[in-house]
Amino acid sequence: MLTLLLLLTSICSAAVSNDLYTRSNLPTSFEWDSSGILIAPKNDSRDIAGIKDPSIIQVDGTYHVFASTAKESGYSLVYLNFTDFSDANSAPFYYLDQTAIGTGYRAAPQIFYFEPHNLWYLIYQNGNAAYSTNPDLSNPAGWSAPTNFFASEPDIIADNIGNGYWVDMWVICDALNCYLFSSDDNGHLYRSETTFSDFPAGMGNTVIALSDETDIYDVYEASNVYHIGDSQYLLLVEAIGSDGNRYFRSWTSTNLTGTWTGLANTESNPFARWNNVQFNGTAWTKSISHGEMIRTEVDQTMTISTEEFRYLYQGVDPAASEDYNALPWRLGLLVQT
Ligand SMILES: *[C@@H]1O[C@H](CO)[C@@H](O)[C@H](O)[C@H]1NC(C)=O
Ligand SMILES: *[C@@H]1O[C@H](CO)[C@@H](O)[C@H](O)[C@H]1NC(C)=O
Ligand SMILES: *[C@@H]1O[C@H](CO)[C@@H](O)[C@H](O)[C@H]1NC(C)=O
Ligand SMILES: *[C@@H]1O[C@H](CO)[C@@H](O)[C@H](O)[C@H]1NC(C)=O
Repeated sequence: MLTLLLLLTSICSAAVSNDLYTRSNLPTSFEWDSSGILIAPKNDSRDIAGIKDPSIIQVDGTYHVFASTAKESGYSLVYLNFTDFSDANSAPFYYLDQTAIGTGYRAAPQIFYFEPHNLWYLIYQNGNAAYSTNPDLSNPAGWSAPTNFFASEPDIIADNIGNGYWVDMWVICDALNCYLFSSDDNGHLYRSETTFSDFPAGMGNTVIALSDETDIYDVYEASNVYHIGDSQYLLLVEAIGSDGNRYFRSWTSTNLTGTWTGLANTESNPFARWNNVQFNGTAWTKSISHGEMIRTEVDQTMTISTEEFRYLYQGVDPAASEDYNALPWRLGLLVQT
């Protein structure tokens, strides 16, 4: 009898926990612990106001971070590495404008390894969507000059962008195609594509992949698209909440051109927002803004394991009142609980 009860109990709890998870082991609600500020601008002659938009991978025990540097006069890119987050803030900054990437507007980097070319790709915005390549991740001087993906802003973006900005490019490939997602700060997420064998050339066929025209702040910017196990993709898009604070919404799809189905995508059940984040000590930010999951698989498939999500994000002192480009953004880490 006792055995039967135990058996029934375990069947019931299995049923309950199955219900809380989608087929691919993705929960339908999320809880996070956040670190304090882990990476801040250096006190150097660059006079950076904010460090933003991190892209992060972990290779052979070393974390490699690419990020935007922001100040009133404009955006640029920086690279740093460390083996332990407790040393992150003392890692030297390697400013990428001293490489062939050059000076001028460059922001919102994404790093990955494109296996067919044996090259690292850094994707970023420069008014267009651009990339640089480097055969050796450990040699930050080795990045190539920017090449634009498009001859000009695609027509469908020009037609829909309104007063927004074309920002936050993200590349992900499946076996046949490579896709470039981007945002317009006007309620639209775009998807462009080229064949896997043509990448990085031939990017085109731009369509609206997701939109919210009733509230443009609900599908705002900073998208990430990850591959999760067999035939499952996770989309994150940054929104501006009703309280003015940034947060992330999430969707899933079985393929990169399919329909995106809401996962945790509301203010009360967000992917990551101040109300599902516990801070270790002071809640130094109310915005959970532009960032990336830490990837240990580093290739063009953007594959992540669902076992332990760790998300490096930008946050800002809620009392800060500078103009947007001069805000003191800092980086912190969310660990899923
Ligand atoms: C929380 O902060 C304490 C003290 O600063 C530190 O030792 C601990 O590792 C932190 N925990 C997390 C999860 O960041
Ligand atoms: C930054 O460096 C300058 C020059 O070394 C120094 O005077 C200043 O106190 C430093 N500020 C901070 C916040 O460390
Ligand atoms: C870390 O970055 C420095 C540049 O600041 C670079 O010289 C070094 O090779 C990098 N280390 C690794 C392990 O990639
Ligand atoms: C992608 O998913 C959509 C449904 O969201 C489906 O109509 C389409 O056939 C799928 N495409 C592929 C290549 O599986």
